[in-house]
Amino acid sequence: MTTLVTGGAGYIGSHTAKELARRGRKVVVLDNLSTGHRDFVRWGAFEEGDLADSVFLDRVFEKHGIDEVVHFAGFIAVGESVEKPDIYYRNNVSHTFTLLDAMVRHGVERIVFSSSASVYGEPETERLAEEHPLNPISPYAWSKRIIEQVLADYGTAYGLRSVSLRYFNAAGADPDAEVGERHRPETHLIPLVLEAAAGRRDCIKVFGTDYPTPDGTCLRDYIHVADLADAHVRALDHLADGRPSDVFNLGNGNGFSVREIIEVVREVTGLDVPVQEAPRRAGDTPALVSSPEKAGRVLGWHPQFEDVRSVVASAWNWHRRDWA
Ligand code: UFG
Repeated sequence: MTTLVTGGAGYIGSHTAKELARRGRKVVVLDNLSTGHRDFVRWGAFEEGDLADSVFLDRVFEKHGIDEVVHFAGFIAVGESVEKPDIYYRNNVSHTFTLLDAMVRHGVERIVFSSSASVYGEPETERLAEEHPLNPISPYAWSKRIIEQVLADYGTAYGLRSVSLRYFNAAGADPDAEVGERHRPETHLIPLVLEAAAGRRDCIKVFGTDYPTPDGTCLRDYIHVADLADAHVRALDHLADGRPSDVFNLGNGNGFSVREIIEVVREVTGLDVPVQEAPRRAGDTPALVSSPEKAGRVLGWHPQFEDVRSVVASAWNWHRRDWA
């Protein structure tokens, strides 16, 4: 089985490429390296190029005999998407059409798509299940919501079957520290707190301390990237077994506050973390916690990194190696 991994030089894409290869699939990574890293392409073939280029896509599908697709490529910064909706809709929506049309042309009928918990918008319940109403509030979240709908419509029209995976907060790194989280610039909490612990930045700013949560800071559901990778392989197997299109939350089902994460970093690293309290960051919702039961029931997916300490420890292990 040959799997095309778009965005396979990125954070979640590279971990998934590793897991696919480990489970015996032939992997083809497609990435334009605009945010991905060449040294993250360690499993399978590499095709450097752009999703917008349908001639390039035709060549890749023909050359490798692609059987199925995992689609990670896309921009991910919620705040930036508010400032530059044009590039988010073009990259995340238009270029996905180019990919889907190439799939239809080449008779490839199975795709797993990187969606996001941000499609839910402001939570109306404490834990979010897949049936929660979808109310995206940023162009980034809209781009994910739109593609979920496009996939449903391509299913009806062209027989494409899809699984959309709604990630909560991806975190941690490959337990072997071969790949990890490397965003430039970095905006995510755990790597920033680790940088503060290591003295690579002055402090961690806590965005908002007056939220209606137990300690006043935002709650998030941190899910280990290796557990995400496992879920992608299970979703591909689900489709390869002839089962229907579906949508799943991927989270641990537990919320951790910003202050709790800082405390865990202190414990794991044994280092002090200088903290500065700062105003709320625009667009942040007080709590975003999954109800992940459906992925357990249907895909047999059960996160292995349940303890947030193990998530932070794997990230610390990777970052120290990457900085060196
Ligand atoms: N935070 C800080 N200080 C920082 C950085 C973050 O206090 O320097 C806080 C944020 O305010 C938020 C929490 O830490 O409360 C987590 O923030 P992240 O930026 O790490 O992650 P988000 O929850 O904002 O976003 C993540 C993904 C998005 C995705 C979203 C919803 O990055 O792609 O989850 O699934 F859309």
